[in-house]
Amino acid sequence: MKILVKRGEITNYKSEAVIVPCFEDGKELQGKVALLDEKSSGLMREIIRGGDFDGKYLHVSVAYTRGITPAKRIVLAGVGKKADFTTEKLRGAFATAARYVRSLGIKEFSTSPDFIFLDKPPDEIAKAVVEGVCLGLYQYTSFKTIDRDKTRGMKEFAIIVETEKACNIVRSSAKEAEIISRAVCFARDMVSAPGNEMTPTDMAHEARKIAKRKNVKLTVLDESEMKKIGMNAFLGVARGSEEPAKFIILDYRGGNKSERPVVLVGKGLTFDSGGISIKPSEKMDEMKSDMAGGAAVMGAIMAAADLNLKVNAVGLIPATENLPGGRAYKPGDILKSLSGQTIEVLSTDAEGRLILADALTYAGTFRPVAIVDLATLTAACVIALGDHVTGMMGTDDRLKHKIRDAADATEEKVWELPLWEDYHELIKSDVADYKNHGGRPGGAITAAAFLSKFVGDYPWVHLDIAGPAWLTKDKPYIPKGASGVGVRLMVQFLRDWQKRTKS
Ligand code: BES
Ligand code: MN
Ligand code: ZN
Repeated sequence: MKILVKRGEITNYKSEAVIVPCFEDGKELQGKVALLDEKSSGLMREIIRGGDFDGKYLHVSVAYTRGITPAKRIVLAGVGKKADFTTEKLRGAFATAARYVRSLGIKEFSTSPDFIFLDKPPDEIAKAVVEGVCLGLYQYTSFKTIDRDKTRGMKEFAIIVETEKACNIVRSSAKEAEIISRAVCFARDMVSAPGNEMTPTDMAHEARKIAKRKNVKLTVLDESEMKKIGMNAFLGVARGSEEPAKFIILDYRGGNKSERPVVLVGKGLTFDSGGISIKPSEKMDEMKSDMAGGAAVMGAIMAAADLNLKVNAVGLIPATENLPGGRAYKPGDILKSLSGQTIEVLSTDAEGRLILADALTYAGTFRPVAIVDLATLTAACVIALGDHVTGMMGTDDRLKHKIRDAADATEEKVWELPLWEDYHELIKSDVADYKNHGGRPGGAITAAAFLSKFVGDYPWVHLDIAGPAWLTKDKPYIPKGASGVGVRLMVQFLRDWQKRTKS
């Protein structure tokens, strides 16, 4: 879909449908709705008085203009009460309205957000509108061969802006939002792809596409190279699968040469059966999404390069399957990690922390200013926080603060869980340095405590995205299934980082 920003008046713009956001509590019509009402001799008023539309959040109503305006239809999109208005609501409202427009079989639509009326700066409004539309229209259709006409694509979305000054602001902000949304959808596509089509090798292929961009370099370590350097925790997990494991390194250098990079680490389990400690078969199919952390890291690097961010950021993605093959690692096995520390395997289903352990140690070779890992690590985190929140644990308050700021800006919610000494006791092993399973109580935290042993002294934050990575119900701008969570969060974090290093 093409996104255009044009200068003009919405009352003069020809379009199949124009989306107009509208508040709930407006007895008095305001902004564009008032303007269109005037133009259409009270059509908006009639719809609202007749009870067809009340402006409630996510409520949508359509009116045919019959030539009163050049736009054929006006689609009213409820954004709720003015006092409760946030850009998040705008994302949701535009996503819902855009899907409604698509259901009408229209390929082209427009809007003209009213900046004064919405009481937010034009760049924020434009960003939310474009993100809402692009993310809300997402569908995963790669494997649909019948009824393809039901999965319609849209051709064009135009944003009409009155002044030249606002036009320039909106244009650059819409472009940014488009880049970020594309990266989110790229991550969603990877996560939606089934395990047989998104193997570690396929992930490395996707990484190659990202590395076509300026300032991005790709290195992929294969199993023999990993063996040479001693990534035995990672290789232990990979043993049960015939699919060769890959260690993907995407190195983006948009900042000063001398600047130490931020390293993002993403869990890349292209399928997690649990291994010998096999999972119940119900919902096991959803474990194709166990590489959502890796996909998010790849999406973030892709967007950073496309936005030309002035930062250095390295993405590390250990990618493998976790299967119970004949040579699979077993409960009771002891693995010697890249750090030299030894790990007793109590459950082969606690595999994420094993592959991350080696990746986090490897991150140290970049002498990073900060390390952030994203992983669908524990079911315990979903039990603790629900499926709409990312669990955050880490060793560095400043870094946690920055992640929280990025979470506030993007509405990709994070909540901190403690990482006190008490939890570290639970992962001590009788026969090795650590065990990979600390029992059920505090399961998200003992997993993080385990990871912390492999990070070294670098500022580090761990994000457990097990809940929000895969949705079982639609959200306003996230269709059920792969959410692409973490991409917007990390891009925002890197953008803020860029500002910090500039000043
Ligand atoms: N990938 C899973 C965690 C997961 C479960 C993510 C459900 C999303 C939805 C992870 O590898 C796992 O199996 N974790 C175990 C750890 C346990 C054995 C210590 C878990 O959470 O049950
Ligand atoms: Mn597992
Ligand atoms: Zn897993």
